[in-house]
Amino acid sequence: MPTFKTSFKKTALALATSVTASLAFASAQAAEVEVLHWWTSGGEARAANVLKELMEAEGYGWEDFAVAGGGGETAMTVLKSRAMSGNPPSAAQIKGPEIQEWGELGLLGELDEVAAAEGWDELLPGTVAEVMRHDGQYVAVPVNVHRVNWLWANPEVLEAAGVEMPTTLDELFAAGEAIREAGFIPLAHGGQAWQDATVFESVLLATGGTAFYQQALVDLDPEALGGEQMVEALTTFKRLRELMDDDMSGRDWNIATSMVIEGSAGMQLMGDWAKGEFTAAGLTAGEDYLCAAAPGTQDAFTFNIDSLAMFRVEGEEREAQHALARLVLEPTFQEAFNLAKGSIPARPDLDMSEFDSCARQSLDDFQRTAEEGGLVPSMAHGMAVRADVQGAIFDVVTNYFNSRDMAAEEAARRMVNAAQAAL
Ligand code: GAL
Repeated sequence: MPTFKTSFKKTALALATSVTASLAFASAQAAEVEVLHWWTSGGEARAANVLKELMEAEGYGWEDFAVAGGGGETAMTVLKSRAMSGNPPSAAQIKGPEIQEWGELGLLGELDEVAAAEGWDELLPGTVAEVMRHDGQYVAVPVNVHRVNWLWANPEVLEAAGVEMPTTLDELFAAGEAIREAGFIPLAHGGQAWQDATVFESVLLATGGTAFYQQALVDLDPEALGGEQMVEALTTFKRLRELMDDDMSGRDWNIATSMVIEGSAGMQLMGDWAKGEFTAAGLTAGEDYLCAAAPGTQDAFTFNIDSLAMFRVEGEEREAQHALARLVLEPTFQEAFNLAKGSIPARPDLDMSEFDSCARQSLDDFQRTAEEGGLVPSMAHGMAVRADVQGAIFDVVTNYFNSRDMAAEEAARRMVNAAQAAL
C-alpha cells in the first residue's frame, strides 16, 4: 500500500505537472496553427490526430480545417477561396508541382531556419527535398510516401472463389469472374473522377510499362497520349467495369474499402491509404487482408508524397508553424502517423520494425524501383503534372469510363487535347 508520504508526493507532482502544463497552455494559447487537410476517413483521421496531439503536448493550439473529399479536390477549392480572401490557414496539405504554383503566387513562407536546425538536407532524399523547396528555400515539409499501385483483397473471398491473388491483368479478369460466380462483387470501386484516374494509371502502367507511363502521363508527349498504347490502356481500363457493381457511382473510396473488409467485395485497386482503413478496423496485413502490387506493375512504384506547405504568417502563429514543421519530420510523428495512415515514413533512416508486411514491401519496392528506374510520380495524386492538366486528364478518363459509346481512339485524341489545352 502506498504510504501517505509517497502518495502525497505523487499528487503534488501530478498537480505541479498539470499546473505547468496549463500555464504553458495559457501563455501559448494565442500560438495556434490552422491546418487544412482532407484526412477525414477513419484511418486518415486517426493519423491526423497524431499531429494535433503532438502540437498540443508542446502547448500549441490546433485548429482543424478538415475538408472531406478523397483526393482533395474540394479541399483545394476551399483553400483557393480562403487564400483569395487574404486569409489562408497556417499550413495546408499541398503536394508536388502545386507547391511551386502556390510559391509563384508569393503566398508561402520559408522554413529554412527549421530545416537548417534539423538537418533536413541530410535527412531527406534529394528528390523529395527538391519538391519541398521553392526558389531554393524550404516552403513545405513531407509527411509520408504513399504508393498508389496496390491491389487489396479479402482472403476469405478469394478462397471461396478458389483463386489466388492475381499478379497479371489476365489473372485479375479471371479471378474477378470466379469471384462473381461465387456470389461476391469482384472489384470494389467508387465512381469519382480521382478514383477512376487512380485505377486508370495502374492499368496504363501494366499495359504500357514505366517508360510509356513516363512519356504519356509525366512528359505529356502527344505521340504517347494519342497513340496505340494509350488506346490499349484505355480499352483494358474500361473492361474493368465488368468487375465492378452497379451502385459505384459517387461512392467514397473508404466505403469501397469497407466492402472488402466486410467481405461483400473481393478486391480493390487503391493507394495504401486503404491500409489505414484495414488498420483502423483492427485487421492484420497478410492474414485478415492481402496486399500486392497492382497486377502487372511489380516493377513500378507510383509515388504520392503528402506534404504540408506553409503560408506566410507572422508572430506567434509563425512560431507555432515552425514547431509544426519540426514535429512532422521527427521520428515520433513519422512512425505514429504512418502506422495509422498506411504509408511509409518520408525519411529513410527510421526503424521499420513496428511496420507491417505491406509497409515493408512498400519500402523495399521504393528502393528497388528507384535503383532500377520504375519509380514514377502519380498523375492521379498530383505528383506528375500541374493541377489544370491533371483536371483535364481526369475529365477525359472519367467521361470515357462512363460513356456508352465513346471509342478508345476518341478518348486518346481527347487526351492529347487535354494536355495541350492546359499548357
Ligand atoms: C490522396 C492523399 C492521401 C489520401 C487520399 C484519399 O491524394 O495523398 O493522403 O488522403 O488522397 O483521400
